[in-house]
Amino acid sequence: MGLGKIYTIVNQKGGVGKTTTAINLGAYLAYFGQKVLIVDIDPQANATSCLGVDRHTIGGGTYEVLIGAQPILTQILHNPRFKLSLLPSTPALAGAEIELIDLPNRERRLAQVLEPIASRYDYILIDCPPSLGLLTVNGLVAAKDGILIPVQCEYLALEGLGQLTQTINRIKYSLFPELEIRGVILTMYDGRTNLAADVVQEVQRVFGKQVFESVVPRSIRLAEAPSYGMPISVFAPDSTGAHSYAALAKELLISDDVQVPITQEAN
Ligand SMILES: Nc1ncnc2c1ncn2[C@@H]1O[C@H](COP(=O)(O)OP(=O)(O)OP(=O)(O)O)[C@@H](O)[C@H]1O
Ligand SMILES: [Mg+2]
Repeated sequence: MGLGKIYTIVNQKGGVGKTTTAINLGAYLAYFGQKVLIVDIDPQANATSCLGVDRHTIGGGTYEVLIGAQPILTQILHNPRFKLSLLPSTPALAGAEIELIDLPNRERRLAQVLEPIASRYDYILIDCPPSLGLLTVNGLVAAKDGILIPVQCEYLALEGLGQLTQTINRIKYSLFPELEIRGVILTMYDGRTNLAADVVQEVQRVFGKQVFESVVPRSIRLAEAPSYGMPISVFAPDSTGAHSYAALAKELLISDDVQVPITQEAN
């Protein structure tokens, strides 16, 4: 039996590091002995391709599962090298936003398919698209243990978070009262600029203790890894980007009361 934690990585702002966090946090949770499933609910399928899976060559994935055409276990891929499982996104997912509207329980379909399999895993990380549409709403309603919000350390970092908070509150009210923010992750931090330091302070002022201490720096290696279809833990385990995601994984494990195995100290 796994821990069965389900976290959804969300921010409707594009390019803030959601997918990079899903893949690399997931990879280090796996490195530290956890059984991890990444769920790609973004029609862009970036998490899928970051893990070296060609979305055009696979038979199905999140879409088939959401519309009820296939049982979830038949659609999950496993990569033994990365120790990661993946529910992939295929081109068909682009139509789901509209097709889901007419289906019963349209906001809860992802939650319903994950619920019976959650205990097979320790961590399920859901990678959302940059929108607050029905796919993201499914991601939020499935976020049994909370949401992780990556925030890019740049000008206007907090812009749009008010809208995200409103959506969260609306879902709390109408669909899922237990929904909560599990943490805010600062990404793409550039230590050479005063601006980045100012953004960190501002985000900490607004979100307080909800901000993870581990900050992800801007790292060329993190940006390169996807084109090789590898998580950073395999592509460049000695890079600063790798160290930061290892630290983030440890921080999450410790606050989830999971023992981090000392024999598997990252680098
Ligand atoms: N810490 C980092 N250092 C350098 N580049 C990064 C870092 N994090 C992410 N990137 C790069 O920035 C781009 C956006 O990151 P990513 O795809 O993770 O964001 P996203 O929030 O998932 O985007 P989208 O909203 O389109 O889904 C990618 O090219 C990625 O490789
Ligand atoms: Mg993404």
